[in-house]
Amino acid sequence: MLKKFLLLTFLALLLAIGGALGYLSLRQPAVQPPRQGSVPMTEDRVARGKYLFENLYHCSSCHSERDFSRFGGPTVESGRGAGWVMPPELGLPGRIVASNLTPDPETGLGSWTDGEKIRAIRDGISRDGRVLFPMMPYEFYREMADEEAEAIVAYLNSLPPVRRRHPATKIAFVPALLIKSVPRPAGTVAMPDTGDRVRYGEYLAKMSGCIECHTPFVRGELLLEQKLAGGRRFDLPAGSVVSANITPDPSTGIGGWTEEQFIEKFYQYRDYVENGPPAVDAQGFTIMPWLNLSQASREELGAMYAYLMTQPAIRNPVETHPAQ
Ligand code: HEC
Ligand code: HEC
Repeated sequence: MLKKFLLLTFLALLLAIGGALGYLSLRQPAVQPPRQGSVPMTEDRVARGKYLFENLYHCSSCHSERDFSRFGGPTVESGRGAGWVMPPELGLPGRIVASNLTPDPETGLGSWTDGEKIRAIRDGISRDGRVLFPMMPYEFYREMADEEAEAIVAYLNSLPPVRRRHPATKIAFVPALLIKSVPRPAGTVAMPDTGDRVRYGEYLAKMSGCIECHTPFVRGELLLEQKLAGGRRFDLPAGSVVSANITPDPSTGIGGWTEEQFIEKFYQYRDYVENGPPAVDAQGFTIMPWLNLSQASREELGAMYAYLMTQPAIRNPVETHPAQ
């Protein structure tokens, strides 16, 4: 009797799992056709795109070859925009490869339309309809204003093509099914009012990855009740680092910092950009984009500060440089 019951329960369980997997594998992601036409290549647009790609939104952090033997991991010139294979130390579910975005027709985006590039950045859909692994932060970029996405694409088109073939991304079976629900087409997005400091600061905190890196990450998801409270750990071959608490908590966050101190913290790294960052050991390793963001304007950093100060203060002591 008991045996029969157990057998039936087991069969029911198998059916439920099979049904769920079947449902997930048949489910189609939300895909819109890419927009038509190409982005006009004006000098202003390319310059703006360069600043967004290299500095303010530092896409280059993931899509360029970097030298982690130096503070902040500066970009290696010959590998600018040419992609990066995520190291296994990061513990990702599979082999995740940030693509070569240079205009090389075979190994980069040279044969893509501009609409396909914009769709990949904001909707999370690759040229062939594949759902991108959401380490590519399209859940945030779907709020990126049209004019900024266009500027970035103009800059990408202006890069020298680098012929560099990486292995293809290969996401583990179950996560590959689960991420199909992540994409959501961005549609048309207007630029936020940059005069509204808090609103613009929130936009920047999303586009610049502050929320993403500074929020604890548990089982593949950001723990949003602890937004900006730090504690997300990053393990790379060059060392391990944990993000800081940047909520307004006075003792464990940045509640005691003035706006001027906040801005100066970034500007202290300008010297490293000009003269080259010093060599560091594992203890000095960081992925905080200090070098890129040291070039941000007072208005941009001030807006980020204004936004951060409106967020809930969360007490969470963090050791940012754990013993290696
Ligand atoms: C945290 C790391 C990270 C950041 C930051 C990042 N990307 Fe990505 N990006 C990735 C990864 C990883 C992939 C590949 C995902 C996959 O293959 O499933 C990717 C894929 C892409 C693709 C699609 C390429 C293809 O072959 O399908 C484009 C285009 C792209 N990124 C552009 C950008 C731009 C522009 C920015 C900045 C606004 C940016 N990325 C910022 C990690 C990142
Ligand atoms: C790629 C991950 C990453 C991104 C993106 C990122 N941070 Fe960080 N941040 C870190 C890590 C890790 C640390 C701790 C190590 C260090 O100080 O270098 C840190 C440290 C800091 C500190 C120092 C806090 C202290 O107590 O000393 C501030 C301030 C800060 N980040 C603000 C920001 C802001 C604002 C943004 C968005 C513009 C941002 N970070 C984006 C990873 C990140």
